[in-house]
Amino acid sequence: MTSITYEPSLSEKFSGLIYEPFLALGERRGMRDRRRELLAAARGRVLEIGAGTGLNLPHYPTGVDLVVTEPIAGMRDRLERRATEEGIDASVVAAGADELPFPDDSFDTVVSTMVLCTVPDPHVAISEIQRVLRPGGRLLFIEHVLADTPRLSRWQQRLAEPWAAFADGCRCDRDTISHLRAAGLKISSIREDSWKGMPAIVGPLAMGQAVV
Ligand SMILES: C[S@@+](CC[C@H](N)C(=O)[O-])C[C@H]1O[C@@H](n2cnc3c(N)ncnc32)[C@H](O)[C@@H]1O
Repeated sequence: MTSITYEPSLSEKFSGLIYEPFLALGERRGMRDRRRELLAAARGRVLEIGAGTGLNLPHYPTGVDLVVTEPIAGMRDRLERRATEEGIDASVVAAGADELPFPDDSFDTVVSTMVLCTVPDPHVAISEIQRVLRPGGRLLFIEHVLADTPRLSRWQQRLAEPWAAFADGCRCDRDTISHLRAAGLKISSIREDSWKGMPAIVGPLAMGQAVV
């Protein structure tokens, strides 16, 4: 495992501490199973973006060559500890999805779970994902998305700014699947679902695979 020397700020340490308690009910009510199901399809050299505290780590199949990236030091701290404690062989790299420090065509699989809602510019992050995936490589995703019902989507738009201020920049009104399609990714499978145990504005989920 790659080791990084840093001193997280107080607010970064705080993010790393509150993230898992905030998600705990949602993990128990379906997200943990969803992660396991999604990641069963990971193959070869795998890059996870915005890996947070490492909730996906236990679900990777054996035999993958895993690189996990996370820009926020407090989250990365927990990510590194989880990888060590659970004996998972992964390189932990400090990087945002907006500028991935990897060559073109260098991964078979990219994983994004609830990250394209948080990156400052989804177009830039998606273009970086396309760049680092080899031709035919796959993006595995679970993202909360803009609702397709007018009532909920209006609430998502109304509450987008306060939610982003509360949730470290996460946008509850992002139409991520349209962004993936517009960038030219081919959605090869998609399932709509609901994130139970979380506020309704982040409830609508899309889970699936997209091919470069
Ligand atoms: C809602 S959390 C999801 C964490 C993890 N993927 C999971 O499934 O639990 C959003 C993550 O995106 C990270 N993030 C924030 N800005 C980012 C960026 N520019 N590029 C990549 N990840 C970013 C956050 O630090 C955080 O870990």
